[in-house]
Amino acid sequence: MNILVTGGAGFIGSHVVRLFVNRYPDYNIVNMDKLTYAGNLANLADVEERPNYTFVRADICDYERVLEILKEHKIEGIIHLAAESHVDRSIRDPFSFAQTNVMGTLSLLQAARNYWESLPEGYEGKRFYHISTDEVYGALDFDGTFFTEETKYAPHSPYSASKASSDHFVRAYHDTYGMPTIVTNCSNNYGPYQFPEKLIPLFINNIRRGKQLPVYGKGENVRDWLYVEDHARAIDIIFHRGKTADTYNIGGFNEWRNIDLIKVIIATVDRLLGNPEGASLSLIKYVTDRPGHDLRYAIDSSKLKEELGWEPSLQFEEGIERTVRWYLDNEAWMEQVTSGEYMRYYDEMYNNR
Ligand SMILES: NC(=O)c1ccc[n+]([C@@H]2O[C@H](COP(=O)([O-])OP(=O)(O)OC[C@H]3O[C@@H](n4cnc5c(N)ncnc54)[C@H](O)[C@@H]3O)[C@@H](O)[C@H]2O)c1
Repeated sequence: MNILVTGGAGFIGSHVVRLFVNRYPDYNIVNMDKLTYAGNLANLADVEERPNYTFVRADICDYERVLEILKEHKIEGIIHLAAESHVDRSIRDPFSFAQTNVMGTLSLLQAARNYWESLPEGYEGKRFYHISTDEVYGALDFDGTFFTEETKYAPHSPYSASKASSDHFVRAYHDTYGMPTIVTNCSNNYGPYQFPEKLIPLFINNIRRGKQLPVYGKGENVRDWLYVEDHARAIDIIFHRGKTADTYNIGGFNEWRNIDLIKVIIATVDRLLGNPEGASLSLIKYVTDRPGHDLRYAIDSSKLKEELGWEPSLQFEEGIERTVRWYLDNEAWMEQVTSGEYMRYYDEMYNNR
């Protein structure tokens, strides 16, 4: 099978690419990524020489180029992760979120439609798998309820609004043109190779450097956390066995108040660095809350468990320990990312394309 992964140089995408390249030597995996600030080919250094892996630098919004790539590589399956993904950035610059997440997804859908409909077998054996977020469902109270696949969309941030819109377009392409689509909505991911603007890698890095840990509001917002390799494994299962036109929620049944999560991170980093217990607690600094900050997200992923047998494999304590160790052991990666060095390198390599 020839599979296009978009956004494969990003955090989750790199884990998906690695899993597919290693697990399916007979597949050709084409990673198409624009290499924005969030894309880093160092995330895939261990698979870049594999014969079943190809990297193409391209923008999903560039319809003609996407169509060319689909034809050239005879793409049969698309796993679409490319997106602008950081809520704070979406509050500062909503246009670029609409451009990439909405128009980019639409351009990819339209290119896939035109290519697949031009083939004698049409949509047979094809799949368009769109990766989305639980944030499209809005926010929950502290009442023990969960987001299910039936929960009404109620996005609050420009990021979640753009993802919600792209989800609707994907479903519309099934309903209107018969494209075999699938959508999944996942909770917060954590693990290696996450860009250090996101809470967990940012805080690990700040603790190591003795820098402040900015906590929104009182740190009472609750998120469900899933180890990124478990998400990649779910994507593999759903890509192969998920029902066409269906939606699956993916989550860890692992809710944490931000402030409690931060204390676990502090305790783990301090222990692994040999600091006295609680040494870095004084780095916590409460800052003005994010506008429209959703109180609680919690995902019910029992449909995925019942229908396809997927469950998170890691307990949170083990996942956090692995994650903290990875960031502490990979200081060179962190240094390269925080200095922006990798971006200058790409600009030279690709001649600012
Ligand atoms: N991180 C999470 O916790 C989480 C949770 C649920 C869903 N998601 C979704 O999963 C996907 C991946 O998230 P992530 O955290 O890995 O994001 P990320 O920001 O780490 O990576 C995004 C990747 O997309 C690429 N990209 C951005 N714009 C592009 C464009 N126009 N054309 C081609 N490539 C482009 C970037 O270069 C980068 O490699 C996103 O769609 C996101 O909405 C993320």
